[in-house]
Amino acid sequence: MKLNSPRGTADIYGEDIKYRDFITGCARKLFHTFGYNEIITPAFEHTELFSRGIGEGTDIVQKEMYTFRDRKGRSLTLRPEGTAPVVRAILEKNLLSQKVPLKLFYIGNMFRYERPQKGRMREFWQVGVESSGPDNPLMDAEVIWLLNLFFNNLGFRDLNLLVNSMGCPDCRMDYVVYLKEYLKGNLPGLCAECRSRYEKNPLRIFDCKVPECKKIMEDAPKIGGYLCGTCREHFLKVQGYLNELGIDYRIKHNLVRGFDYYTRTVFEVVSGKLESAQNALGGGGRYDNLISQFGGPDTPAIGFAVGIDRTAMLMKQSGIGYKDPLKGPRFYMVSLDEGSYDYALKILRVLRETGAASDINYTVRSIKTELKNALRNGYDYMIIIGENEAADRTVTLKSLDTHKQSIMKFEDFNDEILKITGNGRS
Ligand code: HAM
Repeated sequence: MKLNSPRGTADIYGEDIKYRDFITGCARKLFHTFGYNEIITPAFEHTELFSRGIGEGTDIVQKEMYTFRDRKGRSLTLRPEGTAPVVRAILEKNLLSQKVPLKLFYIGNMFRYERPQKGRMREFWQVGVESSGPDNPLMDAEVIWLLNLFFNNLGFRDLNLLVNSMGCPDCRMDYVVYLKEYLKGNLPGLCAECRSRYEKNPLRIFDCKVPECKKIMEDAPKIGGYLCGTCREHFLKVQGYLNELGIDYRIKHNLVRGFDYYTRTVFEVVSGKLESAQNALGGGGRYDNLISQFGGPDTPAIGFAVGIDRTAMLMKQSGIGYKDPLKGPRFYMVSLDEGSYDYALKILRVLRETGAASDINYTVRSIKTELKNALRNGYDYMIIIGENEAADRTVTLKSLDTHKQSIMKFEDFNDEILKITGNGRS
């Protein structure tokens, strides 16, 4: 039996958990400030949700989905992204009848069968938001502002925010004619995959990482030049609001993102410190037709998702620390003999019921061994209970930092712990 985790998956523990908690904690707090409520959707959905939602011609649907049949022969897929599932939930539970704009956020694991690399996993985690209702460019600016502020709050200062407009289906149709015209003459220079994309989904050629294809795409006509009047006006307004908010962004004319559901505004946050194939920490955009495409009311929407694993990796790499909400002194209780456990339990109860992180020795060992153990495990205080303490109802508290030891009456212990931990109610 193989005891290693499947390729492209990871066990997350130790310090990585602290980074994740910090990232998701910041997300929850900030998303709340912007009026978002959490939604949890299943880790798998009917395959059709993704093939129709993301688009049959996309890399994700063609090559990257974990699809399987259940025991009744139904085709199910581990979610490769969170937008289509949220839209499914909105429609199934009729959430738009309760509130518009409907602002939802999610935190969850996603699955894509990609070639694993540093920062690219087959199971990875995202935090994301989806806002349905207004097609007001103010909402686009608000969502981009939220993404930008999120990375700021985490402590990043040198990320690049890229913005573009992909237009509506009408202007995109016109644009694709010109794009194909340009590509026609360059077909022999494209890789085999891009040659097949030429017919099915020429916009995807912009995502190709093959240097020859990238070179050809640099000179390709840009969608920005083909936007219809309404889309151009929408994009100008988005830019105006972003300027008003003092947000530093750059328009990247060939940013087209890899899902078919996008319309108009799209954006990405990238880092120069990550390798180009996976330098995006987060991205998103408008998807004004997805809700109606699934049979719902004509409701525009916009959202983004951020890769938690990649973000944590870059934080570590850039020396950005995390604030640990669980940080506080940790206590280690040592009972020196079996007979003192009854009394030791009373003390442990005070510790845990006042919210102090604490442990007890479950095996009686010498005080020297216990001291070594406490230091090795990073405890801040040791509490030693022997026959004397149990008989006198006292507590011996030793700081492992200053090595100072104090003895107090059991009645005073509660207050002393509240003083040390700061856990007392104000
Ligand atoms: P996405 O650009 O595919 O967008 O993914 C968002 C982020 O997830 C990426 O920027 C990256 O940080 C992370 N990510 C993606 N694939 C992997 C991977 N294989 N390993 C590690 N991290 C990865 C979406 O998923 C859209 N649903 C975003 C959206 C929401 N658009 C509108 N609303």
